[in-house]
Amino acid sequence: MPGLITMDDLSNDEILSILDDAERLLPVAKGELYLPLLQGKILGNLFFEPSTRTRMSFETAMKRLGGDVVNLGDVKTSSVVKGETLFDTIQMVDGYTDIIAMRHPRQGAAQYAQDAARVPILNGGDGAGHHPTQTMLDLFTIRQSHGRLDGLKVVLAGDLRYGRTVHSLSHALTRFGCELIFASPELLKMPREIVEDLGAHGAKVTETEDLLGSIGTADVVYMTRIQKERFADEDEYAKVAGAYKLQAANLEGCKEGMIIMHPLPRVDEIHPSVDATRHAKYFQQAFNGVVARMALLCRLLHVEVPANIGGDA
Ligand code: NCD
Repeated sequence: MPGLITMDDLSNDEILSILDDAERLLPVAKGELYLPLLQGKILGNLFFEPSTRTRMSFETAMKRLGGDVVNLGDVKTSSVVKGETLFDTIQMVDGYTDIIAMRHPRQGAAQYAQDAARVPILNGGDGAGHHPTQTMLDLFTIRQSHGRLDGLKVVLAGDLRYGRTVHSLSHALTRFGCELIFASPELLKMPREIVEDLGAHGAKVTETEDLLGSIGTADVVYMTRIQKERFADEDEYAKVAGAYKLQAANLEGCKEGMIIMHPLPRVDEIHPSVDATRHAKYFQQAFNGVVARMALLCRLLHVEVPANIGGDA
């Protein structure tokens, strides 16, 4: 059964309709309303790499909708340490669950798992590859702030080389006709094959090392962490660590409605002085992971989200 491995698995219409479902699910995500749409369904959480938000928001989404979750737990205490292959693990969890959320350090692992499974796989990050469920909550957050996705000017900054969130997001934003500015140190530029693919989709892309010079006209500034764990060499990391540090003082003169996003966790790329500004949206964005994932779980499990939730029509 098809899951969500890359943003190519969803059409623009499907994206917008899932975002509409997510919007209607807000009172359920906040716990104001209990709506057991997924009662009797089990999500398998298979995280072979650290995760806080993705794993916990999947779990929250499932439980708020009356479903249940089984966890692989710490890889160190699972049969992975006995040498079990990903193929065998998937074959087995496939029989225990109705849907699987998976994160793995190897690029392409989610597609491999989908090929081995009957249940849908939700790719919660495959190495430096893709992170489409993050993109759905990112798009939700952008639309929540700007009322639309199309035609916005978006700066994507930081580790564009290894950051899977920006790989998936740049693809989706291009399909909605956004103008993209890639701000990164030379060493962390967006991979050429992604830039070429975006070009083939009609992308308007500018590349620069100058983050601060790019934010004045932006509608969205999407910051990312430098992905230390993906560097083969510590010295290479040291060359780019701390490359960008956004401070509240840097935001003078930016657009009134400009929003600052970050998939989190942050290290030092957004100073806490930014948190109190009207531009900071990253904690709201993290909360939106619950609604976006609720809507995705319903969609992939073929459960319709009612048109009128908690209303009086
Ligand atoms: C991101 C990831 O795992 O790719 N985290 C997340 O899911 N919110 C970003 C990161 O780790 O830097």
